[in-house]
Amino acid sequence: MSDPVLTVRDLRIVFGNAAVVDGVSFDVMAGEIVGIVGESGSGKSLTARAVLQLVPPRAKVTGAITFEGQDILSMNAQAIRALRGTGIAMVFQDPMTSFNPVLRVGDQIGEAITVHAKTPRRTLLQRVRQLLAGVGIPNPAERAEAYPHEYSGGMRQRALTAMALANDPRLLIADEPTTALDVTVQDQILRLMRDLNARSGTAILLITHNIAVVASLCQRVIVMYAGRVVEDGPVAEVLTAPLHPYTRALLQSVPRLDNPAGRLAAIAGQPPDPADPLAGCRFQPRCASAIGRCAIEEPALDRLAPGHRARCWVAQDQAALAPVA
Ligand SMILES: Nc1ncnc2c1ncn2[C@@H]1O[C@H](COP(=O)(O)OP(=O)(O)O)[C@@H](O)[C@H]1O
Ligand code: SF4
Ligand SMILES: [Mg+2]
Repeated sequence: MSDPVLTVRDLRIVFGNAAVVDGVSFDVMAGEIVGIVGESGSGKSLTARAVLQLVPPRAKVTGAITFEGQDILSMNAQAIRALRGTGIAMVFQDPMTSFNPVLRVGDQIGEAITVHAKTPRRTLLQRVRQLLAGVGIPNPAERAEAYPHEYSGGMRQRALTAMALANDPRLLIADEPTTALDVTVQDQILRLMRDLNARSGTAILLITHNIAVVASLCQRVIVMYAGRVVEDGPVAEVLTAPLHPYTRALLQSVPRLDNPAGRLAAIAGQPPDPADPLAGCRFQPRCASAIGRCAIEEPALDRLAPGHRARCWVAQDQAALAPVA
């Protein structure tokens, strides 16, 4: 077994009286590719952002996050800056964290390198061009001189990915990095991540709406619902024999024929209001398998098979009845 590069323990993120991330725990092993899936609003992005202390200042964050054994939540801004890029890099879909509009793309990627390692100008230019070429940007020397607005959306996302990869991070966190892109560009960016993982052993935490992407890229998957992890385990098991009714509903909501990209469709009903949590299982009002106990008491996230956990009374009963192998 390899060591965990990232551990998240009992992470809680609270806005006012709403715990929008509520007791999340998981590991990412060195060199591993882990997916996080779940409906919009389940707390995926805030969980990812907490890893680089990027949650809004008014959010109250508790629990523990360690990267290579270092305690992230107690780090000061300087220590986090030193970690960003070389240790942990992030790619987001939203424009908030993308390029500075008044600086050339090449200069911004160069800056991401020199902030960590003084580099002679000639070497730097070469490295920037190499990175741009590596993400499939044609005429990299020329494109490095262009401003962000002179890039198309797809090209800008590639350039952002190039910047994230500039310092060979040990952990890449990608939050829906390809959602806004067409399928071809999406495939190229995902291939890039897979190559990076194979070549440099970079661990990847990939948040996505796309089950097909999880199936093709990830070794493990974490399913989040209403601020909680409800199931996690090896992709081969979770996607073919899901233990949690929510995971099953997610998989059934993938329209296979008319949408081969596998974007998730809606599940009937709404998740609970995080300011007014339910007494029992948070999925109970939408769950077709619910039993009496589900409305009264919340199940724990239990290990039901090797490396495979689920938070469900019925799944736990079935695992207890299953013959011991
Ligand atoms: N700045 C904020 N202030 C208050 N609530 C927020 C803020 N950011 C996110 N939330 C709430 O936290 C919940 C989880 O958000 P998020 O992590 O972005 O979900 P996901 O990425 O799974 O769609 C959502 O219900 C959202 O409304
Ligand atoms: S605990 Fe009950 S309500 Fe919750 S997912 Fe399992 S069966 Fe459904
Ligand atoms: Mg999100």
